[in-house]
Amino acid sequence: MLHVRTLRPSEREALLDLLDGWELPDGWRGRTFFRRYVEEDPTFAAENVWVAERDSRLVSCVQIFPRRLRIGGHAVPVGGIGSVFTRPEERASGVASGLLERAANAMRERGMPLSLLFASRFDFYGRLGWTSWPGSRTLLRLAAPGAAARDDDDERIERRTFDATCDLATIRRIHEIYTGKRHGTVVRDDACWKAALRNGGNPNEEFVVALRSGVPVAYARAAVISGFLVLTEFGREPDAATELAALVHDILTPRAADPLARTDRPSSALRALGVAPPLFDPALTAALHTRAVSLDAIADPNAMFRVLDAPGLAAAAGTQLGPGEDAAALLRRLLPPACFSHWLADRF
Ligand SMILES: CC(C)(COP(=O)(O)OP(=O)(O)OC[C@H]1O[C@@H](n2cnc3c(N)ncnc32)[C@H](O)[C@@H]1OP(=O)(O)O)[C@@H](O)C(=O)NCCC(=O)NCCS
Repeated sequence: MLHVRTLRPSEREALLDLLDGWELPDGWRGRTFFRRYVEEDPTFAAENVWVAERDSRLVSCVQIFPRRLRIGGHAVPVGGIGSVFTRPEERASGVASGLLERAANAMRERGMPLSLLFASRFDFYGRLGWTSWPGSRTLLRLAAPGAAARDDDDERIERRTFDATCDLATIRRIHEIYTGKRHGTVVRDDACWKAALRNGGNPNEEFVVALRSGVPVAYARAAVISGFLVLTEFGREPDAATELAALVHDILTPRAADPLARTDRPSSALRALGVAPPLFDPALTAALHTRAVSLDAIADPNAMFRVLDAPGLAAAAGTQLGPGEDAAALLRRLLPPACFSHWLADRF
């Protein structure tokens, strides 16, 4: 008999035993990968995980990641969905679908009018009410790798690895203003900052800052995700496009001892292509062109939204449902797909 309920606080290891059956890219064991979302994400709570149990054994799970997203100029409570897994022998009988519906009801009851997930199985989630919210990604390549393609100014820009002790307060301020202009990004409180710092890498990352008079004016983070070099987040002061472009150029430059390289992805291959969210930053785009970084947009179909409470979403975004406006039309008005972006440092 299948029993559906939320996780008990004592069952963290049982949850990780279940998730250990998930075969993941980038060399992760399921248990190790998902332990990060249990132990390193302060928003984790047993009541956020819906599980199905058969014969005293967990067979399926779904996790809610409580977040707030910038939508229509407001911080809207959103239920992120992740860690969706069913043991192979229990699949195709509606277990995960049932858990997702229970999680959707729980999110609605807890005041989250919207849910977001990142999917590869679009039909599966589509049947359950999540709608694809197609955005784009930016492919970055150095036009002449290894050549002297830098701006002369770059030589004088001081940069180094991020140091949380002295940089975090400034980076948080830059993030709030720079990311604050981007629609659909996570509004980070202390807990979300901790989660983004601890889980933004995979597990390694390159987190670099550019400084003026010793104070950060731009930053960029990169990690290898599914074998690709991904710019997981970046930001800058209003007059620091040059500095940010220099950091991005550095990230695309192969190096002798490369902490992000792998045996099957040596530095030259790894750094030949970077993947970023849409830049939405004309000055950065211009500064990258100056550095002979080519930019191409490709479609990114992974994000899916489900409106759980249309009047609640409208109210949280400081508006009202228009006459005849349905949930999908409301979300399109508040968060046009062409404007949507999400830092992968906030992924779940
Ligand atoms: C994706 C996953 C969680 C689905 O779990 P599940 O418990 O099998 O899910 P469901 O049974 O609710 O639905 C699975 C399929 O069975 C179908 N189904 C549901 N009830 C059914 C029933 N009673 N009889 C036959 N089929 C049924 C669903 O329509 C669905 O079809 P689809 O694959 O064509 O979309 C599972 O395959 C899994 O763990 N995969 C590996 C991890 C993963 O990929 N997670 C999702 C990341 S985006």
